[in-house]
Order: sequence, then structure tokens, then C-alpha cells
Amino acid sequence: MTYSKAFFDLQWRFAIRIASLSGLPLEQALLDCTNLYIRFGLGRDFDPRHPVWQAYLVGVESEADGGEWTYRFALSRPREVEVPALVGRFGCFGYAQLGDDRIRLHFHNAEPPGRSPLSRDRLPARHAELRALFRHVHAHAEASARVAGVSWLYNLAAYRRCFPAAYVETAKPAGPRFRNMPLWGQFLDRHGEVRPDAAATFLERLDRQADMRDIASCFPMQPLAVEAPVSVFYDFHQL
Ligand SMILES: CC(C)(COP(=O)(O)OP(=O)(O)OC[C@H]1O[C@@H](n2cnc3c(N)ncnc32)[C@H](O)[C@@H]1OP(=O)(O)O)[C@@H](O)C(=O)NCCC(=O)NCCS
Repeated sequence: MTYSKAFFDLQWRFAIRIASLSGLPLEQALLDCTNLYIRFGLGRDFDPRHPVWQAYLVGVESEADGGEWTYRFALSRPREVEVPALVGRFGCFGYAQLGDDRIRLHFHNAEPPGRSPLSRDRLPARHAELRALFRHVHAHAEASARVAGVSWLYNLAAYRRCFPAAYVETAKPAGPRFRNMPLWGQFLDRHGEVRPDAAATFLERLDRQADMRDIASCFPMQPLAVEAPVSVFYDFHQL
């Protein structure tokens, strides 16, 4: 999915503010505190010398409008960003291997235009996808495996209801994830447009921020971490 220019503007403005509050060089703030390196499809090494990142930084230096340049650069990059160690996708859900004994759940909108992926009427479809996903896990993973997730989405009742209570009840703050979609994804709707209320709240708080203390609280929602034994899902889906 191609995200709107407003999504890149938010990240650009965050990096500018971080640079001015902390004294970090802007290129460091862009690398450490935005999802741009990952969004440009450069992986997760965050290597400041990566030639594509260096090409981006040339424009950061020379272009008059950094937000506009960032968006243009993103459009020149592949649309789909690979999920590390992804094992399989099942509609809106996917899972990745985290070491030998844990899997991580991922979510993206795979519905056709016009359908709300987290709406109540699509809940049976989400449950069916998760059932297929866990059938695959059942066939391939250790019986003692654990299931983990980290996302802003666990704040939403519409997302939590996709999962067994024993999994979502373990939710606790995951800490800042300035480089990751589990934080930045909260500004997007299913069309890749920015949610105006969330963006306005964020920018207002950012404006008021006098120093770096608790800078993560500018984000309306914090990413939550959840984890439970895979058997919780086998029981839930009667596998
Ligand atoms: C997840 C995603 C598809 C939700 O988009 P959406 O257009 O709100 O989707 P839905 O229409 O299915 O909405 C789901 C519900 O959550 C609510 N919701 C979604 N985002 C919200 C937000 N930031 N704040 C408050 N409520 C939100 C919606 O209002 C809706 O509730 P309702 O039916 O009671 O109105 C979209 O945010 C997205 O694609 N994000 C990027 C991917 C991402 O973040 N993945 C997770 C990475 S870990």
C-alpha cells in the first residue's frame, strides 16, 4: 500500500522537533526516530552508510521542502516492505518466527476497498484467517511455542476481539518504538490516509513539548506487548 504524503510529513516533523529539542543531527533523528529507513525497504540494520539512505540524505540537505522530498523519495521505492522472518500470510494476518520458540503476529489491511477490516461484520473472516494461521503453526511449530505481538492496535477493542482473552489480557506497555509501525501505524486508516484527529493531537503535543522528557507521550496511543502460550490459541480455535 502507498501511504499518503501526510504520513511522511508527520514523521518529518517529528524528526525536526527531536533534532531541535535534543541537539541530535537531523539525519540521526530521521534514522532513529522515524519509520523511514524501514519504509524505504532498507531492512532493519539501520546502517547510516547504506547507499539508498545516503541518496535520501542528499535531498534532505538540498531540497527546500523536506516533507515533500521524503514523500517523493518513498514513491521511488518498492511499495511492499518485507516482514523479517515471515513464515506465512493468512488474509490480514501473518506470522514470523522469533527465535526457536516464539512466533510474532502481524496485521495489515488485505480487504478490498470499501470494507473495514476490523468491523464487527468482518470478525468471522478475521477469526477464520487466524484459525488457518494457527492450523499452520500447529503443523510446524513446537507444542511449547509462545505467541507474541507488539502494536498500537492492542489498544482497540475492535482488534482485541479477534483474539482469545488470555492473550490480550497480558498487554503491557512495550516502550517507545520510534522506528516501527507498531507505533506509527496508529496515524493511518485502511486507505493509507492519515487520521486527522490523531495527527492533530500529536502535532499539538509535539508543539508544546519543551524537552525530550517523555517525548513518546506525544503519540495518542502507546504500543502494547502481548504474549501467551500457543495452546491458548489452539483451545480458542478448537485445533
Ligand atoms: C489497522 C488499520 C487497517 C485500521 O484502519 P481503519 O480504517 O480504522 O479500519 P477499520 O475501519 O476496520 O476500523 C477499526 C476500528 O478501529 C477504530 N480505530 C482505528 N484506528 C483508530 C485510531 N487511531 N484511534 C481510534 N480508533 C481507531 C476505528 O474507528 C474502528 O472502530 P469503529 O468500527 O468502532 O469505528 C489501519 O490503521 C492501518 O492499515 N494501519 C497500518 C498498519 C498497521 O498499523 N499495522 C499494525 C502494525 S503492528
